[in-house]
Amino acid sequence: MNDASPPAPLDIAALREEFPILRQTVRGRRLVFLDSAASAQKPRVVIAAMVQAMETQYANVHRGLHWMSERTTDAYEGTRDAVARLINAPDRHEIVFTRNSTEAINLVAHSYGRGVLRPGQAVVVSEMEHHSNLVPWQMLRDAHGIELRVAPVSDAGELDMAALERLLADRRVGLVAVTHMSNVLGSYTPAQRIAALAHDHGARVLFDGSQAIVHRRVDVQAIDADFYVFTGHKLYGPTGIGVLWGRRALLDAMPPFLGGGDMISSVTWERSTWADLPHKFEAGTPAIIEAIGLGAAIGFVESVGYDAIAAHEAALTEHALARLSVIEGVHVLGRAQDRGGVVSFTLDRAHAHDVATLLDRQGIAVRAGQHCAEPLMRRFGVDSTTRASFGVYTTGDEIDQLADTLARVREFFA
Ligand code: ALA
Repeated sequence: MNDASPPAPLDIAALREEFPILRQTVRGRRLVFLDSAASAQKPRVVIAAMVQAMETQYANVHRGLHWMSERTTDAYEGTRDAVARLINAPDRHEIVFTRNSTEAINLVAHSYGRGVLRPGQAVVVSEMEHHSNLVPWQMLRDAHGIELRVAPVSDAGELDMAALERLLADRRVGLVAVTHMSNVLGSYTPAQRIAALAHDHGARVLFDGSQAIVHRRVDVQAIDADFYVFTGHKLYGPTGIGVLWGRRALLDAMPPFLGGGDMISSVTWERSTWADLPHKFEAGTPAIIEAIGLGAAIGFVESVGYDAIAAHEAALTEHALARLSVIEGVHVLGRAQDRGGVVSFTLDRAHAHDVATLLDRQGIAVRAGQHCAEPLMRRFGVDSTTRASFGVYTTGDEIDQLADTLARVREFFA
């Protein structure tokens, strides 16, 4: 496609047909699923790929010499190629399968944190991190003498780049670990600028792309990232499969995270040596069927196209902000310039859980609570929010239903 021409609008009706779950009615109403940031629904191709693998060829990978193992290994390794293509990784051996983003970050915190970072060095996170990109660094701090620094976000919900630069000024920071898109505010962080700033100050950079990769094209080379992590289940794939991408030189320098089968080169009573990348970091039988499902999910996303996905979700987000912001008593958290399809809000005199319960009674599924981001809640002076989040199958009509129902919920609390 010519970059200058706008993407063709998505045929949402046809796309929704690909998601069997969306055909359901809930209490006599058509399901309105606005909780994709927690976990996205699965298209038929993903379900079919997983079922087909189990029905026709299932066996363990990398171990057998029989045709079933070979075919399953090809499918499993095919997903590694698909991931490398998706994020423009220079080398497929740099793609490590994990259970999810949380495990990928723990892997880096453990292996890079203890194996490469030295006590007295610092790790920087931001105020808008999911607990997955905070708690592993706290554990590293407590176990390994690493200082943990926190880069603030503005009232608009944007990363304060000047403050980040100040945190890097003493050149003691070994790693900047930040989200690429907040799961609460929807704000994107300027990944390329963050990487450049980190590198200028001698630090490496890890992006938590769990939310970002669902909504926009990620190119780890263009960003100049050092590590990038994401999870399969938010990207229309199954649970239990996530990805760590890291530069080969960094992964090579890191000790293994988990020990066991498949990650070794040789084992004696005295010592073991490690397999080459990526197997060094993939101990034990992996999530084979889930990896095959992730491959199908990537194929699905590529067939829809990131240009069309991003345009569709930008329009939905704009519509949601316009509709919600005029409802009296509704306050949307953050107003970042660059944001994706996640909108968190509070309603005067109502707890988020009550709002979500009343929306649920009308067949509208949203998430309510702290969204695994307790420090961010405190930063914005709230104890919880209600969050609507959009996927490729979300429609403007569903946003209207949310806004109309929320207006009635407001009357209830007023
Ligand atoms: N991290 C997921 C969310 O934001 C679970 O809802």
